[in-house]
Amino acid sequence: MEKGKQLYEGKAKKVYATDDPALYIVSYKDDATAFNGEKKGTIAGKGVVNNTMSNIVFALIEEAGVPTHLVKQLDDRDTLVKAVTIFPLEVIIRNVAAGSFSKRYGIEEGSSLLKSTLEFSLKNDDLGDPLINDDHVIAIGLATEDELAVIKKYAHTVNEVMSKFFLDKGLKLIDFKIEFGKLADGAIVLADEVSPDTCRLWDVTTNEKMDKDRFRRDLGNVEETYQAVLARVKGA
Ligand code: TMP
Ligand code: ASP
Repeated sequence: MEKGKQLYEGKAKKVYATDDPALYIVSYKDDATAFNGEKKGTIAGKGVVNNTMSNIVFALIEEAGVPTHLVKQLDDRDTLVKAVTIFPLEVIIRNVAAGSFSKRYGIEEGSSLLKSTLEFSLKNDDLGDPLINDDHVIAIGLATEDELAVIKKYAHTVNEVMSKFFLDKGLKLIDFKIEFGKLADGAIVLADEVSPDTCRLWDVTTNEKMDKDRFRRDLGNVEETYQAVLARVKGA
């Protein structure tokens, strides 16, 4: 399958048309941004890590009964996916307090939560991706009540599958962000990616941060950490 016209360029990926209108090619870049694009950089090899890791995890999620956009990996950086219309929502699940949750509610990073907590942000860089609740989503028409119920059910299943998978690799899944899309027939599928860009992963014994927080917070060993996560995910 050949790349056609570039349809979209995001901060970490490009999306291309193919000669089949139901299929796109996603191409993962090494570009990294943080704080709504204020901090910019490159993480050498990140595109390869995120592409490979996403596809491994998406295959597991699919087996667990949550449909995904994945068709097949084409090469190191490129993957053939089903064409979807993305819901403009960041679906975040938190198992342990960290990041903006810790800041917003004054709760120390690393504090365990009594319940896995799902939150939505509106995907809108100009507005700084504000938090948004279920009623807001439905009121604005971003998703229907039924679609939201499916998205939430799928997100919790994704959390269960990924928490178990990463723990087996010596990584605690602290929190993550996923995105869902709609196929032409209205079916909801997991889209976008699952990677150290979009998950907080802490080493289970040392609590070392093994994700994009190393870039966001200038913790060093950024490239090495992405490679180490991929090696664990591949079971090497
Ligand atoms: P937060 O604590 O900064 O809100 O991040 C929660 C999770 O979402 C964390 O695993 C990182 C991920 N995330 C993204 O994937 N994209 C983003 O733009 C942001 C802000 C967070
Ligand atoms: N999507 C965020 C940005 O650039 C990056 C992040 O913090 O993950 O702005």
